[in-house]
Amino acid sequence: MHYIFEHGTKEGKNLLLLHGTGGDEHSLIEIARFLDANATILSLRGTIQEDGMNRYFKRNGLNQFDLESLEKETDHLLAEITAISETKGIPLESWIIVGYSNGANIGAHMMMEREASIKRAILFHPMSLGVDTNLAQVNEGTIWLSTSENDPIVSKEASDQLIFQLEKHTFDVTVQKKNSGHQVTMEEVEHAKKWLSTLDNK
Ligand code: MLT
Repeated sequence: MHYIFEHGTKEGKNLLLLHGTGGDEHSLIEIARFLDANATILSLRGTIQEDGMNRYFKRNGLNQFDLESLEKETDHLLAEITAISETKGIPLESWIIVGYSNGANIGAHMMMEREASIKRAILFHPMSLGVDTNLAQVNEGTIWLSTSENDPIVSKEASDQLIFQLEKHTFDVTVQKKNSGHQVTMEEVEHAKKWLSTLDNK
């Protein structure tokens, strides 16, 4: 996978960036630096191509997810993150995912469905992918996420369903509700930044 890795300082968090459909490893760097100017950053480009746009798993139309691809690519992504973390000497559990849209969706899926995974995340406009193989699995962790009432891609049902799933998996979920479509706004980034500052560095 193509990725960017940047060492931060000891005071910084470890931020793992997962872009939205059509983005790449550069898309969330500016937001990550705003969230924490001292952060160590790992940003991975999705390997699936859809009409020239990068994604992390296949779909057969808007919100018609290819669940076989989702499982395969979740394993692939986690293996890649694990290998890079080992090479760089960074514990897997110290990463905080910063994901947007498609990247937030695979990030949430990975956190709920894979046992040895990441426990903390900032998820901009995520949704349920309609998969939960083991709702009783206790993952523990903490997640900040944003939803928007007039989001043309993520319905209220799909975001409510994800929050329900995350809470069943015993994640502590902080929800920022707004009304600004599927875009990431400055207001939500500022809100996420404040939340992030309350976490320890691990
Ligand atoms: C997805 O495919 O993960 C969601 O529809 C969000 C997106 O448009 O990428």
